[in-house]
Amino acid sequence: MADRRMTSLWSGRFDVAPDADLLAFGASFPFDRRLLEDDVAGSVAWAEALAEAGVVASEDARAITAALAGMLEEWRRDPSLVDGPDEDVHSFVERQLVSRVGDAGRRLHTGRSRNEQVALDLRLYVRRRVRGLQSQVRDLVGALVAQAAEAGDAVMPAYTHLRRAQPVLVAHYWLAHAQALRRDHARLGAVRDEADALPLGSGAVAGTAYAIDVARLAARLGFSRVVANSIDAVADRDFVSSFLHAASLTLVHLSRLAEDVIVFGSEEFGFFELDDRVATGSSLMPQKKNPDPLELVRGRAGRAIGRLAGWLATMKGLPSGYNKDLQEDKEALFDSEDTLAGCLRAVTRVIETLRVDTARAGQAASGMLLATDVADFLVARGLPFRSAHEVVGGIVRELAARGRTFESLSLDEWRAFSPRFDERVHAAIGARAAVAARRTPQSTHPASVAAALDECRAWVAAARDQ
Ligand code: ARG
Repeated sequence: MADRRMTSLWSGRFDVAPDADLLAFGASFPFDRRLLEDDVAGSVAWAEALAEAGVVASEDARAITAALAGMLEEWRRDPSLVDGPDEDVHSFVERQLVSRVGDAGRRLHTGRSRNEQVALDLRLYVRRRVRGLQSQVRDLVGALVAQAAEAGDAVMPAYTHLRRAQPVLVAHYWLAHAQALRRDHARLGAVRDEADALPLGSGAVAGTAYAIDVARLAARLGFSRVVANSIDAVADRDFVSSFLHAASLTLVHLSRLAEDVIVFGSEEFGFFELDDRVATGSSLMPQKKNPDPLELVRGRAGRAIGRLAGWLATMKGLPSGYNKDLQEDKEALFDSEDTLAGCLRAVTRVIETLRVDTARAGQAASGMLLATDVADFLVARGLPFRSAHEVVGGIVRELAARGRTFESLSLDEWRAFSPRFDERVHAAIGARAAVAARRTPQSTHPASVAAALDECRAWVAAARDQ
């Protein structure tokens, strides 16, 4: 019995102290201390619920809640105090509580299991932290809106297969990225809703034996509902999976935006110019101005996708009820959160400071990419589209062979290709005319883009007020 020491919340069951190495192997305190304030909030609410149910005397509950509040204050002032040999944050909080209020503290865990406690903490954490990510997404959408407004009527090529396809307004291009990010914002909102259910009252797996008013407890902790099944609740981490998915998809969008800016900012394209403050140089080549932050964003998207894939693999073989494998949820969640927050900051900074070379972009938006408009010109004069496509294909072939462009053709040259061309062809074939010819609300028509810009600006303002 000499070895028997009170080293954990469960030491009563065992004759000897646990193997130190394995205790450290199983510990989550090095990373789950991030749940401290959620654990304290949950414990305060639980103490009050126990008192209301008549399980714990009101004085004891008051002593517990006062001590917890005081401890949290101290820990906030000096985070280095959140430390010790504890297995996890729940053990840490309880040990500290008992050391301050003795037996009253020993009553807190009545009818409660760490299985539901960790589920609660994580739900509270997700609910509180996702808002911050959403406002970062909103700020980036705001930066894209500012670029769109700044772009005015500037044009650039839109690409398919990374080949010049059709001219578009630069504003339309920025608003395309804004749309993807707005879906991310909504997806993060759905993650908050998914996490919005109180798991307390589930006990270890079967439910608690005390008459806890869970609806009241839910309201006290700001949840709009209570979970439906205790077995499910102690092992349900779907909200973590959804978060990892939402974070991955947001990072996929950031990565694609980063890739665009890297490519369009290269010497070959030259549409964008990175601000010196967000670019990096080379130790060897004096001329270099590298987009390192954007490359890192593109790289880190892979990391978040890996977290999602790894987590789903962890979940897929679990028997029902709590299993320790679930402890893997936290590092996946925290790492994805940090990765996303850092990447959002970086991309926002780059977009806020980016300059568009409207002359270069505009120049690239003329030439062969007006071919669709030439075909449309013939269609408007009665030629079936398939035949028009054929005629214009022939023109393109010939112009390419002679190193010429549509804009350089005289009326006689046009008419040699088809008698349906008339003098209006000169005004109809140009980047600006092409943009103005698009008609649907989602198109690059200047009026559509102006309306989309207004709508997006209003969205940013509304998201700010939330
Ligand atoms: N540290 C654990 C986790 O993160 C807390 C729950 C422990 N429950 C248990 N029965 N060992 O999942």
